[in-house]
Amino acid sequence: MAFFLPNIGLWREEVQMKRRKTFVFFHSSNRHKFVTVACVSLALALLFVIKLLPLLAQTTPEVVGYDDAISHNAQQMLAEGKQTFRFDTFGSEAFWGDTLKLHEAVAKLSPKKALALGLKVDAEALPADLVEQIKQGKVDLDDPATTLALVKLNAVVGVKAFLTPDGSGMKSIGINCALCHSTVDDSFAPGIGHRLDGWPNRDLDVGAIVASAPDLSAFKKLLGVPEPTVRKVLKSWGPGKFDAQLVLDGKAFRPDGKPAATLNPAAFGLAGVNNHTWTGSWGNVTYWNAFVSNLEMHGKGTFFDPRLDDKKKYPVAAKAGLGHKRDSDDQITGKLPALQFYQLAMPVPKPPPDSFNSEAATRGQAIFNNKAKCATCHVPPLFTEPGWNLHSAQEIGIDDFQAKRSPDNRYRTAPLRALFDTQKIHKGGFYHDGRFATLPEVVNHYDKALKLQLTEQEKNDLIEYLRSI
Ligand code: HEC
Ligand code: HEC
Repeated sequence: MAFFLPNIGLWREEVQMKRRKTFVFFHSSNRHKFVTVACVSLALALLFVIKLLPLLAQTTPEVVGYDDAISHNAQQMLAEGKQTFRFDTFGSEAFWGDTLKLHEAVAKLSPKKALALGLKVDAEALPADLVEQIKQGKVDLDDPATTLALVKLNAVVGVKAFLTPDGSGMKSIGINCALCHSTVDDSFAPGIGHRLDGWPNRDLDVGAIVASAPDLSAFKKLLGVPEPTVRKVLKSWGPGKFDAQLVLDGKAFRPDGKPAATLNPAAFGLAGVNNHTWTGSWGNVTYWNAFVSNLEMHGKGTFFDPRLDDKKKYPVAAKAGLGHKRDSDDQITGKLPALQFYQLAMPVPKPPPDSFNSEAATRGQAIFNNKAKCATCHVPPLFTEPGWNLHSAQEIGIDDFQAKRSPDNRYRTAPLRALFDTQKIHKGGFYHDGRFATLPEVVNHYDKALKLQLTEQEKNDLIEYLRSI
């Protein structure tokens, strides 16, 4: 203790001195120091309020949370939309299976026959041992039991089987968007490979498949024609085509006697494009998604379009009240947001670099934009008009049969996409019905119809440019 006493004394003295100094600080000529410190403190406080608080605020859950919520939502919608596009039947099994008994016809198809009708097999859905057996030629591709096994595995693109309680056979069948709007890359074998969503299936003979259904009385009733006529119409479509307007206007053949069906279009590269389908004025992507899932796939849902009440233009739809569909069990409406989101996310496949002559393509680009006037309608980089992208048949120099089946009597400026690919995407030709088999035919048509007077060299350059976009 003795040791500490002097120190305590010293400590007391120091405290007293400090107190004095503080007193002096506040009450003496050192006041300006105080003002300086106060100012600096105030400035720091202001800085905190102006700069740091907002920074802190950004780390509060609501703001960063909303940013995250957008990204999270995008991911979730992509996943949901993909699932819907590939696998959802929207309850359409009640029509294709329960009513038409299409599953009975599918059960009789050998895998070879199914592939010949353009049905595709998703290689990723096949278990490794089955892949091995196929490779070794141990799987009987002439046996319909193999088709059933594939359908059971969810491996047949766009087709979903509903099995009997013991799992031995099919009791019904439904269809998905992927049936007509997906194909495969043939990486395993022709017709078997990885899915290519959004690529139109231009091999699929959907008419022939539907025509094979045992009971077509539903179409007979809707269209008011005997079943053999229904079958004849369905069989007239051919590969890669479908007639979406048949159930509206009942027109099965064009005035020239050719089938009224149109080519299955690509479902990719549609972001930024206003009107959809070949004739456009129906509406946007989500309009058409609702239209097709309700009225073409015969899913269960809600659909409203009073334009279909027009008895003259759409006698079949008006009679059946298709523009006022309200099923109590709506399996469609809730899926439309994500479905649209997924479709808009599908990019346009790019041409392989060696698939066109780039020098000629550069020259062709100038012709496309200037002398040939293509870009007045196909505005790059959308290659359709931003806005009301519709034209009369006369403007593009063709007949107006298909245009007149749509509300606005026009054709939609087709957004030019992946024109290099005539193996899959543009198999079956160009324009809504594939009337021009090749790009040179398209260009010659415009040259004549629009009186462009392109030289052979200019035509060739223009075609190279078309192949490059
Ligand atoms: C049976 C074949 C078939 C099925 C199934 C089908 N579509 Fe289509 N789809 C077509 C045809 C054919 C057209 C062109 C119709 C027209 O122009 O009149 C089309 C057009 C479209 C378009 C417009 C494309 C463009 O270029 O603007 C979109 C989008 C679309 N379908 C989405 C879907 C979705 C989503 C589903 C599932 C809910 C679906 N389709 C189911 C055949 C089909
Ligand atoms: C007046 C507007 C207009 C002009 C000008 C025009 N097009 Fe088109 N184009 C259309 C419309 C509309 C369609 C859709 C036709 C149909 O569905 O049958 C189309 C379709 C096409 C297609 C077929 C796309 C497909 O997916 O099948 C190609 C290729 C094409 N145009 C290239 C051209 C070229 C090349 C030029 C210039 C020489 C040109 N277009 C000028 C409006 C136009």
